[in-house]
Amino acid sequence: SIEKVPLSLKVNGKKYKLSVEPRTTLLDLLRENLHLNGTKKGCDYGQCGACTVHVEGQRVNSCLSFAVMHDGQEITTIEGLADGDKLHPMQEAFVKHDGFQCGYCTPGQIMSAVACVREGHAGSADEIREYMSGNICRCGAYSNIVAAIQDVKQGGQKV
Ligand code: FES
Ligand code: FES
Repeated sequence: SIEKVPLSLKVNGKKYKLSVEPRTTLLDLLRENLHLNGTKKGCDYGQCGACTVHVEGQRVNSCLSFAVMHDGQEITTIEGLADGDKLHPMQEAFVKHDGFQCGYCTPGQIMSAVACVREGHAGSADEIREYMSGNICRCGAYSNIVAAIQDVKQGGQKV
């Protein structure tokens, strides 16, 4: 059997003390150990963005990252964005602009979209498309996703 290693994380504001196999990805840890299934597994090799979360405020493809690399760090997943029953402004904008169809890519899109605005990469549609290019949508909701991000950016709401 593989020896487990201790790991402390803060996920969506809650502290966890865990014991994990060294090769467990952050994605599998979130989904399988913590049952936070909002973060999706699309490709599992860094090509689709469905697994995007924030680590210390930076977006990360969680399928490419070993959980043990994040000891002591703060993770935010899609489950951590809303404020109780109140949707995050980016979630509201995705609803308003039909920024999803099947919804499979949506958690990752929204986590990237929040980072896009926070990091100041939402200045134009082109800039948004470039920043969001790692998030694939097989349903082709791209133009609505860009519209949602522009709406949040232009509204000047705190994200
Ligand atoms: Fe991580 Fe596709 S599941 S990038
Ligand atoms: Fe279906 Fe994006 S909404 S993959």
